[in-house]
Amino acid sequence: MRFQDKTVIVTGGAGGIGAAIASRFASEGAQVIVTDVNGDGAETVADGIRATGGRARAFAADISTAEGCQSIIADVMATEARIDVLCNNAGLMRRGNILSITAEDWRLSFAVNIDAMFHTCAAALPHMIAGGGGAIVNTASQWGLHPAPNHIAYNVTKAAVASFTQNLGRDYAPQKIRVNAVCPGEIHTPMLESGVKRSGRTMADLDKLVPYGRVGRPEEVAALVAFLASEEAAFMCGSLVEITGAQAVA
Ligand SMILES: NC(=O)c1ccc[n+]([C@@H]2O[C@H](COP(=O)([O-])OP(=O)(O)OC[C@H]3O[C@@H](n4cnc5c(N)ncnc54)[C@H](O)[C@@H]3O)[C@@H](O)[C@H]2O)c1
Repeated sequence: MRFQDKTVIVTGGAGGIGAAIASRFASEGAQVIVTDVNGDGAETVADGIRATGGRARAFAADISTAEGCQSIIADVMATEARIDVLCNNAGLMRRGNILSITAEDWRLSFAVNIDAMFHTCAAALPHMIAGGGGAIVNTASQWGLHPAPNHIAYNVTKAAVASFTQNLGRDYAPQKIRVNAVCPGEIHTPMLESGVKRSGRTMADLDKLVPYGRVGRPEEVAALVAFLASEEAAFMCGSLVEITGAQAVA
């Protein structure tokens, strides 16, 4: 129960990894705000948490705009009056190299994958500092550190998430706000399944490419996020932690 009575925000909470993160924090005593542009999906995740005795509520917001990001923080401050943990997990993947990706997909990738973190953090940090400290955990990607081919917008935005995390970690450690990022490899979620379908491969093909013998599970990323947000990781600030089953980017 490391998060008893803590308020935790999870963006992209309707998705594969986000739902697992939300459930993990709730199972350790947190009040979780499950937020997503997919409001019905967020409701389903929050309902599932409450059905198993946890505390959660859904909040629909589109984080591709500054107003959408700010609405999440404003809602949580109006209802919970504090923010202990902010998990910037929402993200999207647009395939393509510089000649095939559209300018619209390039801009949307930046809006959702990195600009949104600027807006949620800028809105949340004053409240977290006033509350005496807290933790921010960003979902970056192994591909932001070691680019996979043909995903330039995704890789560049995730590299920006990595640098953003290091910068914020450095700037706010004195105020006891710890900012870290997880950098997952292949994790079995709807995002991965749609990518695998597009590439003409199967999930079994993908399992064979991972030295550990299978792709990762959302719950395994959630356990790492919870560790980074907990007091057990008290001396971790600005760290980028890979979770990949030892798979190298091909
Ligand atoms: N699955 C993987 O293999 C993998 C690997 C590395 C990193 N990641 C990262 O993990 C995070 C979660 O990915 P996932 O695999 O669970 O994908 P997912 O597609 O299952 O979940 C992503 C969620 O983000 C939400 N979202 C997208 N655009 C939004 C917007 N404008 N406003 C609010 N919410 C929005 C979606 O509705 C969805 O619920 C992403 O940041 C992704 O880049 C995933």
